Parts: sequence; C-alpha cells; structure tokens
Amino acid sequence: MAAMPGCTAPSRPDPAVPYHETVAHFAGEDIVAGYTRDIDILRHITAKAWRGRISCIVGPNGTGKSTLLKALFGFLRPSSGRVVLDGQDITGSPPHRMLGLGVAYLPQRPSLFPYLTVESNLKLGLWHARPKKAQVNRQLERAYERFPAVREKRRQPAGQLSGGQQRQVEIARSLMTDPTVYLIDEPTAGIDPQTSEAIYEIVAALAHGLDKAVLLVDQDIRSALDITDYVYVVKTGAAVASGPREQFGADTDELVARWLYASGE
Ligand SMILES: Nc1ncnc2c1ncn2[C@@H]1O[C@H](COP(=O)(O)OP(=O)(O)OP(=O)(O)O)[C@@H](O)[C@H]1O
Ligand SMILES: [Mg+2]
Repeated sequence: MAAMPGCTAPSRPDPAVPYHETVAHFAGEDIVAGYTRDIDILRHITAKAWRGRISCIVGPNGTGKSTLLKALFGFLRPSSGRVVLDGQDITGSPPHRMLGLGVAYLPQRPSLFPYLTVESNLKLGLWHARPKKAQVNRQLERAYERFPAVREKRRQPAGQLSGGQQRQVEIARSLMTDPTVYLIDEPTAGIDPQTSEAIYEIVAALAHGLDKAVLLVDQDIRSALDITDYVYVVKTGAAVASGPREQFGADTDELVARWLYASGE
C-alpha cells in the first residue's frame, strides 16, 4: 500500500509560539465519563489535538483510552467536563452531529459493512449529509485518487479485503466528509508489520500533509511515537504525564518502562 498521494507541505503558523501553547483545534477538557452512573472510567482527563499535529494517548489495557474517544465522539455523554471544537462547546453532541461538524472517528473494531461493496461503504461515509449524487461522485473520485488500491477493490465486498486494506477503506471513507479532526483508535491492531508501517504513513500524512488535528490511541507505542508530536500517558482514566514528544526523550523503552509499567502503579 502506498502512502497517501496528493499531500503537500502544510502552511504552518509562525513558530514563535509553540503549537502546544496555542488554543487547540479540538479538546476534551476535564472529562468525567463511564458506562454506568456509579462507575467513572474517565476521571478528569484532558486531551487536545492541534491542526497539523498528532497527539497520541498511550496507556495500559483497560485504562480508558477507547472510552475517551467514545466520549469525545458523542457515544458517551460526559457527566462533567467539556468537548470543544474551534472554540465552540460541543459537549454531548451525538455522533451524526460530530460528523457534520468535521470530526471523524475510526473505532478500534472493524467498522465496514462486510457484505457491501467497498464503494457502497465509501458512500455510507456521507449518509448523514444527504448529499447530491454529483457531490458523492466527486468525493468518491477524490478518495480513489488518494487511495489507488481502494479503487481497484471498489466492486468487492469489503469483508473480502485484508485487515490492512479494510483500514485503508475506513480512512478513505472518513475522508469523504472532509473532517478537520481525526479520532483514531489502534489503527494497526491485528495487522502485519509491513502493512502497519504503510498505515502509520497515512496517519502521519493526515496531520503533517493534510493539516488535520489527529488524536491517536495506540498500543504499538514505538511505531506511534515515531509519528507523534504530543503525548498523553493515561492510567486508570487520568493523564499522569503529558507533553511534546521530545520532552519524553528519544528512548521509547525508557518511556514505556518509566510511565506505563512502573512498579506500584
Ligand atoms: N461497553 C462497555 N460497557 C461497560 N464497560 C466497558 C465497556 N467498554 C469498556 N468498558 C470498561 O471500561 C474500561 C476501559 O475500557 P477501554 O476499552 O476504554 O480501555 P482501553 O484503554 O481502550 O483498553 P485496550 O488497550 O485494551 O483497548 C475497562 O474496565 C472496560 O472493561
Ligand atoms: Mg481500546
């Protein structure tokens, strides 16, 4: 799989002020949320995403990373805290409205309809917008230009594609809505290393090429941190450390040992 073509260098603001000290394009602020009323999975967690940057959330299994993305995308309503997009409080907006506002979500589990063709799946990326046929065709053509491998498979049922190819279709589908924010959960779980590398290139291109604000959740810490700009280390629903990638040092093993699996934590 090739990296996404058509990416140009983004126009970056004057770097006099570091990006992470500017107002984030998208943020969950002080979020408390859970699946039942009496148990909070997220405990006052803040996570931000800036245009042209990748913020990565790392943490042990079951710590609430996927729950955070679900709460930010409107599948769970936070009991306190705010979700903010471009200065606007959008807390509690349901997923179809989040899509309309330009927030895309790639869930941890495969989300294509396996018996529908790749092209039908792509068209479903625009279901909430009720677009005209010409607009659908325009967006389809754009998706195929970016992802030639997806064009080749367009008449096949999505379930016949490999895991990596399905991920590519999911990304192509989410680009149909022209989002500015990407919430991405474990993009390479269960995918072979070579294909994973190509997927990380695509994720990097979303931020560094297409100027999207990306919030990435990942277990493959080493690969994810290679493309990451800002890191949140999360444990039991709260961020225990955060900062620009370089603040954590060059040694990923040290980061893993120190922040994620330190004894007594
Ligand atoms: N639908 C659900 N209903 C009730 N509890 C849930 C549900 N989904 C997750 N949980 C619980 O919420 C907690 C956090 O789960 P979550 O999936 O957010 O963790 P995670 O950090 O994404 O883990 P992993 O790295 O394994 O993907 C876990 O204790 C989990 O059992
Ligand atoms: Mg998860």
